[in-house]
Amino acid sequence: MTDSFIEQLVDWRRELHQHPELSNHEFATTARITDWLTQASIKILPLALKTGVVVEIGEGEPLIALRADIDALPITEATQLPFASQNTGVMHACGHDLHTSVMLGVAYRLKALENTLKGRVRILFQPAEETFDGAQALIDAGALEGVQAIFGMHNAPDLPVGTLKTRGGALYANVDRFTIHINGKGAHAARPHEGIDSVVIGSQIVTTLQTLASRVYSSQESVVVSVTRFTAGNTWNVLPQTVELEGTVRTHNDEIRRTIAPRIQALINGVATGFGATATLDWQAGPPALINTPKWAEFALEIAAEQGYHTEVATPQMGGEDFAFYLHHVPGAFVSIGSASEFGLHHPSFQPDEALIGTAVDYFTELAQRALKVL
Ligand code: NI
Repeated sequence: MTDSFIEQLVDWRRELHQHPELSNHEFATTARITDWLTQASIKILPLALKTGVVVEIGEGEPLIALRADIDALPITEATQLPFASQNTGVMHACGHDLHTSVMLGVAYRLKALENTLKGRVRILFQPAEETFDGAQALIDAGALEGVQAIFGMHNAPDLPVGTLKTRGGALYANVDRFTIHINGKGAHAARPHEGIDSVVIGSQIVTTLQTLASRVYSSQESVVVSVTRFTAGNTWNVLPQTVELEGTVRTHNDEIRRTIAPRIQALINGVATGFGATATLDWQAGPPALINTPKWAEFALEIAAEQGYHTEVATPQMGGEDFAFYLHHVPGAFVSIGSASEFGLHHPSFQPDEALIGTAVDYFTELAQRALKVL
């Protein structure tokens, strides 16, 4: 790979960085990516997509897919970089601009090698990862049809450039969200016995929910229950009638995911009923756990080691990643690649090291060719 090619990819990354767009609004981003791919005569698949673009390189079977996410976040950038966001309040603070430039580089490299490919490589430039609905939109549009294995990446600011991690099995968590409404009875703060104190009940519920992880499910399983919002009252001398709690549950095990909502309902009913109040649960299921196919995770680590990466077996994370939706349909693996940023993902000062781009392009170019050979 020539230096000028990498410079080009860095320029594209910076152009994307200057013009970030929110999930499902990546119109200019899609136009830019499409333009750059068209310049290399790379075949665009005619899928019905609002944003995002899917391309294909090579002929015949087998068929593998690679995926980059393209959306940004509602964050005001604080980096002071010369190529900082020009779209106030929106920032590529998760590095999806890097992921996109990597897969653009891979598309160009594979296009140059097209005659030697043993099959086809489809590259998905996916919108709306941050809102967890982009992968499903691509699947609904047919982006996975015929795909036999899929691979993707996320940059990891806590790892040095040149380090790559993944694991077979669960890498990211089931991400579910809940809201609890508690209905007590309002009263004067000086005479609580005349009411049913929804604040005390809400407080009991917050602590009781912590027993799910410590007393209901095995200590060998990963269960996180976080209450992140407690909304009640509006002054100092009135006990409010209602309390609203909001939060998230993170798990890796599908059986636990299936049983935890009814468990929460039973717990909050028990606490509320004990005080003569009522409590209801609204459950919003998010993306499933990201489960890597062991064979492909091992393959991804092997190729990385050959390519000079320092490789490690990852530990499961409690965050979410909508690449998980693809892995519910086809086998594959998702990897974390070091981007050495002092500030983490979703931080206004997030500043990944662009040195990641060149080596990641080499890596996925090699991985794609080799995956076609072993299928
Ligand atoms: Ni991200």
